[in-house]
Amino acid sequence: MKIGILTGGGDCPGLNPAIRGFVMKAIDYGYEVYGIREGWRGLVKPIIDDKPLTVADVEEIIYRGGTILRSSRTNPYKDPAQLEAVMKNIKEYNFDCIAALGGEDTLGVASKLWKDGVPTVGIPKTMDNDLSETDYTFGFDTSVNVDTDAVDRLRDTARSHMRIIVLEVMGRHAGWVALHTGIAGGADYITLPEIPLDLDDMITHLKSAYGRKQYGIVVASEGTELPSIGDDEKKLDAFGHVILSDRNVGDYLATEIEKRTGIETRSAVTGHIQRGGAPTPFDRVLASRLDIRAAQCVYEKDFGKMVAIRGTDIVPVPIDKATGTLKTVPLELYESLKPLFNK
Ligand code: F6P
Repeated sequence: MKIGILTGGGDCPGLNPAIRGFVMKAIDYGYEVYGIREGWRGLVKPIIDDKPLTVADVEEIIYRGGTILRSSRTNPYKDPAQLEAVMKNIKEYNFDCIAALGGEDTLGVASKLWKDGVPTVGIPKTMDNDLSETDYTFGFDTSVNVDTDAVDRLRDTARSHMRIIVLEVMGRHAGWVALHTGIAGGADYITLPEIPLDLDDMITHLKSAYGRKQYGIVVASEGTELPSIGDDEKKLDAFGHVILSDRNVGDYLATEIEKRTGIETRSAVTGHIQRGGAPTPFDRVLASRLDIRAAQCVYEKDFGKMVAIRGTDIVPVPIDKATGTLKTVPLELYESLKPLFNK
């Protein structure tokens, strides 16, 4: 069996442990795993290794962030010529299966390829944690750790200078990173894309927090819907997503807060710092377990599946179900946690 493995979309901590887990298990089955470089672009061009990955290639990457296979946001379904090249290269390289590590976009391509007759397995990664059918994606835990550390540091400055500080975090159209960071960091207010922003409510709670302790912390998701920000003329990526960092949600909120409270306010953005560095032990274990199960799917010829964590179990689920709709933060969950930050 000859398998091609690729990582697509934004990198995140956990990709290297995942590649390692897949290769190690596949080698036990006697399979050959070839690295396809730069996501789906590697199948378009092609940029494909001429030798299979070995245990020596992967055994020491457990603690490394990023992806040794490199990544891109190439979407071959956007361009018929690219799709034709992908199909031709899969045939020419005699791949029996493509293992795709990615989020909604990368796995969306894997799902379409499966429908078009290519055996695929999907492995869920994304710091956004927004893939359906799985409780967690690897990359998320590490990002929340980085952002929580940022809140702890910002708190020192906020307290010393009696300021309010807004931390803007990534997460695209799902507020998981902001919610978990805000709770873990003990923020005074959290804004999410799923919850319509109520500026008056935020100001009331910040004034009250400031009255108690003379500082305040807000964690804001980059996707928070703001009254004056339209997305009409914004830059889009190859999958049609607005580049959310251009919206400067943190800056916007800090300006509004200072204007409405008279309290000195600053904003900070962790940006791509959230996506780099060593994966947490949780992400290393999750990535390794998911990818061992993905290699098992190949062995069982259980294609068109994404491996998922449900509770403490790793299970295969239909890949099209996982990529059909985003997993966003339920309103009830946000409401149930509000007593922690909305005082
Ligand atoms: O999907 C992961 C993610 O980090 C999002 O949270 C963020 O909006 C986006 O990628 C940033 O993409 P890029 O690295 O292309 O700027």
